[in-house]
Amino acid sequence: MSEATTATITATTSSAATAASSQSAAPAPSPSSMRAVTQARYGDSSMLSISTVERPAIGADEVLIRVHAAGLDRGTEHLMTGRPWILRLAGFGVRGPKQPIIGLDVAGVVVEVGSEVKRFSIGDEVFGIANGSFAEFASASETKLAIKPANVAFDEAAVSTVSGITALQALTDVGKIEAGQRVLVVGASGGVGSFAVQLANALGGTVDGVAGTANLDLVSSLGAERVFDHRAIDIADIDGRYDLILDIGGQNPVRKLRRLLTDSGTLVLVGGEEGNPVTGGIGRSLVAVARSAFASHRVAMFVSTEHFEAIEQLAGYLEAGSVKPAICARFTLDEAIDAVRLMESGQVSGKTAIIVG
Ligand SMILES: NC(=O)c1ccc[n+]([C@@H]2O[C@H](COP(=O)([O-])OP(=O)(O)OC[C@H]3O[C@@H](n4cnc5c(N)ncnc54)[C@H](OP(=O)(O)O)[C@@H]3O)[C@@H](O)[C@H]2O)c1
Repeated sequence: MSEATTATITATTSSAATAASSQSAAPAPSPSSMRAVTQARYGDSSMLSISTVERPAIGADEVLIRVHAAGLDRGTEHLMTGRPWILRLAGFGVRGPKQPIIGLDVAGVVVEVGSEVKRFSIGDEVFGIANGSFAEFASASETKLAIKPANVAFDEAAVSTVSGITALQALTDVGKIEAGQRVLVVGASGGVGSFAVQLANALGGTVDGVAGTANLDLVSSLGAERVFDHRAIDIADIDGRYDLILDIGGQNPVRKLRRLLTDSGTLVLVGGEEGNPVTGGIGRSLVAVARSAFASHRVAMFVSTEHFEAIEQLAGYLEAGSVKPAICARFTLDEAIDAVRLMESGQVSGKTAIIVG
């Protein structure tokens, strides 16, 4: 697997660099302050800046984490842009983001615990989903964290939760995968897909993957038996039928995906970046599920459940080594805006880690 480095980013006037240099002349930060990637309003990465802000206060059921690493995922981009708009109505802020610090995936050490926290103590090494993980410290609900396996590095744990539990739930809770089944992962080179290929293998499936030309080797290295290039073939031309298809790319007509299913097969619609500004990929999934009501096969959509039980299950695969996060790029916190820019460019593959300290 090739490792993209920050050298691939050539922007010399990044907000990160500008903010960092302008802060060198500022007074020394107070002990309760921290550096973080912040956004004042919805927009693209040009809205982001590296700021010195107050450390988050924690609620009774939350912990404060000293962040060692964070992970970047499409959800973080959606919350940054406020698109699709349906997200805003889901409680993330109608006019502007309620959470000024970006980032969901986190790994670090617990430094403070709320009065009602039962599962964690100060000093625990944890990973999961935080309220703003692109920062030196982040708060997180104890229900969205698990203990990090000792043999898993902080950056590997940090990139795992959002994509890993989505892949796991798509395969198991929704897709009902059984050992011996044939599985097709469409969008196998991305965040969710890179976990899905490995997890489907670990769960006993025989896995094929669809990805872009540059990422076919990556998908093979993750354990896909056959790989198909979505830039070179029409998905309808894939030979063979599948018991389970995960559509993560979201760009192919659902009717073509359905034709690749066995009569009793299941198509799980995980996501996609197409669609109108209001519902995005969710609109396509809702229509597809409604249209398949009388078909012999099953079409399902879902929103992943962010709960520690799923994260602990994922931790088991990470600890056993049957799943290894495909980290294809690493950035420091000061370079984090470049990481978001890379994701916006569409050139990102696998997972991107933000190394905080
Ligand atoms: N349902 C949920 O709860 C849930 C949870 C997490 C994420 N999601 C959604 O799932 C989607 C994927 O997330 P991600 O983090 O995996 O994104 P990602 O890292 O950007 O991966 C996107 C994948 O789609 C592939 N792709 C692009 N064009 C394609 C095409 N025409 N045909 C087939 N594949 C194509 C890409 O392949 P190449 O780059 O190799 O071309 C890549 O493998 C997003 O829309 C995200 O919002 C949903």
